[in-house]
Amino acid sequence: MHRDSNPMTLPRLAEMKHNREPIVMVTAYDYPSAQIVDEAGVDIVLVGDTAAMVVLGYDATTPVGMEEMLMMAGAVRRGLEHPLLIGDMPFGSYEGSNEQAIENAQRFVKEAGCAAVKLERGGPSVDRARAIVRAGIPVMGHVGLTPQTATALGGFKAQGRTAEKAERLYEDALALEAAGCFAIVLEAVPAAVAARVTEALHVPTIGIGAGAACDGQVLVWHDLLGLYAGKAPRFVKRYADLATEAKRAVESYVDDVREGRFPEEQHTYAIPDEELDAFESWLASHQEAQAQHEQR
Ligand code: KIV
Repeated sequence: MHRDSNPMTLPRLAEMKHNREPIVMVTAYDYPSAQIVDEAGVDIVLVGDTAAMVVLGYDATTPVGMEEMLMMAGAVRRGLEHPLLIGDMPFGSYEGSNEQAIENAQRFVKEAGCAAVKLERGGPSVDRARAIVRAGIPVMGHVGLTPQTATALGGFKAQGRTAEKAERLYEDALALEAAGCFAIVLEAVPAAVAARVTEALHVPTIGIGAGAACDGQVLVWHDLLGLYAGKAPRFVKRYADLATEAKRAVESYVDDVREGRFPEEQHTYAIPDEELDAFESWLASHQEAQAQHEQR
């Protein structure tokens, strides 16, 4: 496994695109997952608003808010040393105005220790991205399937599958780059369209369901590990089945407790004999005094 011991930087990501070194990004939502992805050598960690679905159990990404995102991002920060940490701006935290977008982006940096933020869509989000970049905070764009506006896109389905839609997606990606974004996520986009966008941009593209020509790839922690019971999208590759493994472990615990096999001696604490004797004689006189009290 290749692992760079230096913290990830924006110039290093640009260099990786230039050198055609694949960029590896993954989501994380808490301290232990952050420690694992750091030790595994990923380049970028996103505290994604997918948390709404995979962590909080909603059926969309829109319900998660700033406070929940900041709490998760802070926990991830404490578990990371090397990867670049990005906070995903939740629905309703940036669309209102440039001022709102800057204020909430600053919270990700000041309160959670993020190095950058991500926001969804082209169009009106281009201005928001430009404003945040001007305020000194790096921004990652996100086009194609943008789950925060999935209803308007006709559901959780691939985007850019007609010439007209591919053209709009291409223009959005270029506009986000011109606004100062340091990288752009392409989600659920035909591989051929993602390849053209990747060639046209000077900043890296990070694909999720966008084919192998992207400069990097991102997967959601729960999808990658098989921890999410919902239906996984076509673009997910499961590298483990941890939900089954976790269920097996909890079932063994349930059986052990019910059958008296847990805890064993090795799981318990001892007390010196003389201390136990003293405690028991105190207990005996205490109980006797109590009994006399009740008889009165
Ligand atoms: O919220 C998220 O996890 C994301 C990734 C899928 C890119 O936006």
